[in-house]
Amino acid sequence: MSQSIIQTEKLIFRYSAEEGAAPTVLDGVSLSIHPGQFVAVLGHNGSGKSTLAKHFNAILLPSGGKVYVDGIDTCDEDRLLDIRRQVGMVFQNPDNQIVASVVEEDVAFGPENLGVPSQEIRERVDAALAAVGMTEYARHAPHLLSGGQKQRVAIAGVLAMRPRCIVLDEPTAMLDPVGRKEVLDTVKRLNREQGITVVLITHHMDEAAQADRLVVMHDGHIVADDKPALVFQNVDGLRTLGLEVPEPVALLYELRQNGVDVPLTALTVDECAGVLKKLLRGVISQEQI
Ligand SMILES: Nc1ncnc2c1ncn2[C@@H]1O[C@H](COP(=O)(O)OP(=O)(O)O)[C@@H](O)[C@H]1O
Ligand SMILES: [Mg+2]
Repeated sequence: MSQSIIQTEKLIFRYSAEEGAAPTVLDGVSLSIHPGQFVAVLGHNGSGKSTLAKHFNAILLPSGGKVYVDGIDTCDEDRLLDIRRQVGMVFQNPDNQIVASVVEEDVAFGPENLGVPSQEIRERVDAALAAVGMTEYARHAPHLLSGGQKQRVAIAGVLAMRPRCIVLDEPTAMLDPVGRKEVLDTVKRLNREQGITVVLITHHMDEAAQADRLVVMHDGHIVADDKPALVFQNVDGLRTLGLEVPEPVALLYELRQNGVDVPLTALTVDECAGVLKKLLRGVISQEQI
């Protein structure tokens, strides 16, 4: 099997170096993310998602255990640039990530810092803006864009560094439904078409449902790690952790609670409609007998 792009081994983290001075925020997290995967991370506030994400490109370093990015130990200071080149981060607030007053200059900022030659920067900026569907806004002022457009510019800025993996920490939390869809569609396309590994931290169940793999965090631990359709079948378990399930699953769960024999595997409205149609056909044909 190919080497993990991100691997944590029994990762422990406290926000203070002094033993006992701060709570253990990550408590033995072991996780391997493989190239090309689209992984969603779910968990209620304070469960450690952002802290974990910041270990993925050495913004934070472990208090215990290990983190490797493409096999490089993130504690290896000499390799920090290699790590940052491979894993790009996108955060919640698009306004905090914009550094220039023209979109294309903003996107060029990362590769400029990496010392990329100017001809290549041009090519990278053009390709990155095209990849997020923002080419026509290259000469615009970022602060006049919508939230979804700003986040797409932030993603372009990360893409211009040619990372193998993008980690997005609740990138849609401040966006309206249109912006959310723009960002999610962009991220999915980058994963499918360019094979970029995606780690998406989100509190939207419908976004988590679209990933290949869903990791659930609780109190600094990983409590579930499987295909979304399988994780969301554990409706009671998730509710105990203060998490909901996608609405189609919640509906089918209600039916099951009322004695209707339906599977809980439908994550989308279409899949749920399929299950209900099958059920209703059965009911109708029985009544006709
Ligand atoms: N800079 C910080 N200093 C001290 N404690 C922090 C800091 N950032 C987060 N925490 C604490 O770490 C825990 C996990 O936080 P975080 O990783 O932000 O969780 P999530 O992203 O899942 O909401 C919380 O208890 C939070 O209060
Ligand atoms: Mg967070």
